[in-house]
Amino acid sequence: MKRLPLVPIICLVVSIVSCSVLFTSCGSKQTPAELGKLVYESQDCKSCHLLAGQGNKGPGPDLSHIGSKWSAEKIRTQITDPAKIDPQAKMPAHTGIPKPDLDNLVAYLESLK
Ligand code: HEC
Repeated sequence: MKRLPLVPIICLVVSIVSCSVLFTSCGSKQTPAELGKLVYESQDCKSCHLLAGQGNKGPGPDLSHIGSKWSAEKIRTQITDPAKIDPQAKMPAHTGIPKPDLDNLVAYLESLK
């Protein structure tokens, strides 16, 4: 019986596996802002805000260019504790958004220049 050329076969298998692992992780890698857009869509923000022409025209202001007006920190505070920014704030505090989602949501809004 002929011996199979084991070393080249192993090399081939290893490179195929590592390539596909690399490709899938690269292919699905989204930026925080891209992920944050999905968080925005999954929350109730649209019911009170307009963003790029989508959503309701109020009672909240248009968020289309919020990143050129507000810092990331201020945006984060407005989402989690609006009364800290304005004691009369009408926007409800969104305290239930998990930290990684909130980070991405803030990155998204901050990117809207
Ligand atoms: C029930 C209505 C309502 C919902 C839901 C809501 N907001 Fe608001 N938002 C407001 C109102 C009203 C204001 C104006 C300031 C205030 O009264 O709190 C505001 C202000 C803001 C501001 C400051 C904008 C500016 O230019 O002054 C940001 C940023 C913001 N909201 C983000 C969000 C995000 C993100 C969500 C979703 C997680 C959200 N809001 C959900 C009503 C809402």
